[in-house]
Amino acid sequence: MRLKNKMVVVTGAAGSIGREVCQVLANQGASLALTDLASDPLDEITRDLQNKGASIFSKPADSADLSTFERFLNDAETALGRRPNALVNTAGFWRIIDFVATTPGDWQEMLTANLMTVLASCRAIIPRLLESGEGSIVNFASTAGEFGSIRPSAAYAAAKGAVIAFSKSLAREVSPNLVRVNCISPGPIDTPMLQAASDEARSIAASRTLLGRLGTPHDIANGVLFLLSDESAFVTGTVLQVNGGSLL
Ligand SMILES: NC(=O)c1ccc[n+]([C@@H]2O[C@H](COP(=O)([O-])OP(=O)(O)OC[C@H]3O[C@@H](n4cnc5c(N)ncnc54)[C@H](O)[C@@H]3O)[C@@H](O)[C@H]2O)c1
Repeated sequence: MRLKNKMVVVTGAAGSIGREVCQVLANQGASLALTDLASDPLDEITRDLQNKGASIFSKPADSADLSTFERFLNDAETALGRRPNALVNTAGFWRIIDFVATTPGDWQEMLTANLMTVLASCRAIIPRLLESGEGSIVNFASTAGEFGSIRPSAAYAAAKGAVIAFSKSLAREVSPNLVRVNCISPGPIDTPMLQAASDEARSIAASRTLLGRLGTPHDIANGVLFLLSDESAFVTGTVLQVNGGSLL
């Protein structure tokens, strides 16, 4: 029970990786406040965790909208009767598209889902964590944001690169107050996001890792657990690569 007595907020909780993150955190005793744009799958994961005895509040919300996210946090605090200790930002969106085929609307969509969600949720939660005198934030980057995307998705890579720069900068601001900020950077993970690519592209992605396989949502959830737990008490401003040793 490494997260007993912790209340963790998870965005994108209905997603493939988000759902597994929620399972792992609940297994470790965390109370969870979950949100996602997609209400039906959010209800599904909420019921599943509640049936297993976890303490859960969930509400569909747009994490990219600051006032909406602040209302969500207020409702979560009331329902769970406690302040949050941590935030995990799994919300995101990826699409393969040649940059020359994209429009300003596509860029906005990518930046909103992958970057604005991080900015708005961090802006809403940071004052609460600073007041508590401790906290941990885990933002989702991507190998695309570190090295550039292999398949065409330049606007996505730009947003994820910005998440890394933002998280390091925020760590500088708030870590002296014992609020830690880190990124997790998944490599190719076997999820519908990657299944949208061709079989050939997926096997190339697996062969580019030193371990010769695609990662699983559970691999990522274990990395998140480390960054939230006391075992990482001296870790901030870093990017944890969970990518099987991807060679790009
Ligand atoms: N799957 C991979 O191979 C892979 C690789 C590298 C990075 N990542 C990153 O990991 C994270 C999770 O990926 P996934 O495969 O689970 O994706 P997913 O599409 O299954 O889940 C993402 C979830 O985020 C939610 N979301 C999007 N915009 C939102 C918003 N504005 N407000 C609230 N919720 C919103 C979606 O509804 C969805 O449920 C993403 O940030 C993704 O970029 C994934």
